[in-house]
Amino acid sequence: MTNFPILASELPDRIAKAIGVAGGWIGFDHFMALALYTPGLGYYASDSRKFGLMPSGVKGGGSDFVTAPELSPRFGQTLARQMAEALQVTGTAEVWEFGAGSGALALQILDTLGPLVERYTIVDISGSLRERQRERLAAHAGKVNWASELPPRMRGVVLGNEVLDAMPVKLLMRLNGVWHERGVALHEGRFTDADQLTDLRPPLEVAGSHDYLTEIHPQAEGFIRTLADRLELGAVFLLDYGFPEHEYYHPQRSMGTVMCHRNHMSDTDALADVGSKDITAHVDFTGIALAGQEAGLQVVGYTGQGRFLLNCGLLDGMENASLAERAMVQKLVNEHEMGELFKVIAFATENVKNADGTAWEPLGFSAGDRMHTL
Ligand SMILES: C[S@@+](CC[C@H](N)C(=O)[O-])C[C@H]1O[C@@H](n2cnc3c(N)ncnc32)[C@H](O)[C@@H]1O
Repeated sequence: MTNFPILASELPDRIAKAIGVAGGWIGFDHFMALALYTPGLGYYASDSRKFGLMPSGVKGGGSDFVTAPELSPRFGQTLARQMAEALQVTGTAEVWEFGAGSGALALQILDTLGPLVERYTIVDISGSLRERQRERLAAHAGKVNWASELPPRMRGVVLGNEVLDAMPVKLLMRLNGVWHERGVALHEGRFTDADQLTDLRPPLEVAGSHDYLTEIHPQAEGFIRTLADRLELGAVFLLDYGFPEHEYYHPQRSMGTVMCHRNHMSDTDALADVGSKDITAHVDFTGIALAGQEAGLQVVGYTGQGRFLLNCGLLDGMENASLAERAMVQKLVNEHEMGELFKVIAFATENVKNADGTAWEPLGFSAGDRMHTL
């Protein structure tokens, strides 16, 4: 049980009501969706500052966590080379970015690609960041559009940085050898973990009989299936932290991967301080790859972020970079920072081939592709 009493604020009240309406228990995925996306109240649905380099109390600070495009513009400039190749191979001129945050990545890509991009559409289920993005992207105003859901048909190159980890997950708990779904109930005015017997299972059998908490990702996999269904011609690049299935469901990873972020600190108590912190889970990249493949996409690459960025030429021109710039670039590729935990997975529609009819191997996976590990 969380040690924090429910605050007398609107979001916890709303969630408590939802628990009551559902008969006293909701799945963790439902709780996470309400905590992050309740219109006007959820963490991503309010306009507090989330992305940035520094916590509050520091000059220029006030954010909760840092993402790659906030660390260094070289992230987006380098990714843009991959985007340029993908636009050329698919013969399209539109980029679709999911969950565009502060607009930093969009700006880096639009500034780098110039006329190669005719339309840049930002898709986010929460519209709270739109004003900030509009201001930041003012120089490209004629090209940028916003959508709150996927259109029925799409062509172009799709991009999502740290979007899959923000999609609600279901929690599974093996207790005394028996699988339960872990959800949320109310006990003496507080949110509390509550387990119910379930037929749901992790995609891999988890060796051993020890108590084991983990997640499954029906929403992220459903998102990929919808994307596959709507994309007529194009490629998809998704960057996030996570692992292939055999690492995700490793017997020793017995506490799951749910993590909260606020003011550049992390904790694991998702039931406390709802609405004022981010809730995330790592990505099961095997599940994402299979969902895409089963829905008709080809998986065209999978590797670590560090390897991907180096393949795309991250270090070109670094000779003249300042020390501060070098330090940020190191963070993007170092194995103990974002280089290894973060992965890149890419898909293409089946009609995408090189001009000579051979299979397309995107630039970012030209060395060190790890599709075989999925
Ligand atoms: C961690 S933020 C990533 C921000 C940004 N990409 C960056 O790298 O700084 C996750 C974003 O994904 C958005 N998101 C979550 N699920 C989504 C979905 N199904 N469609 C579009 N956006 C989604 C959230 O609203 C949030 O803005």
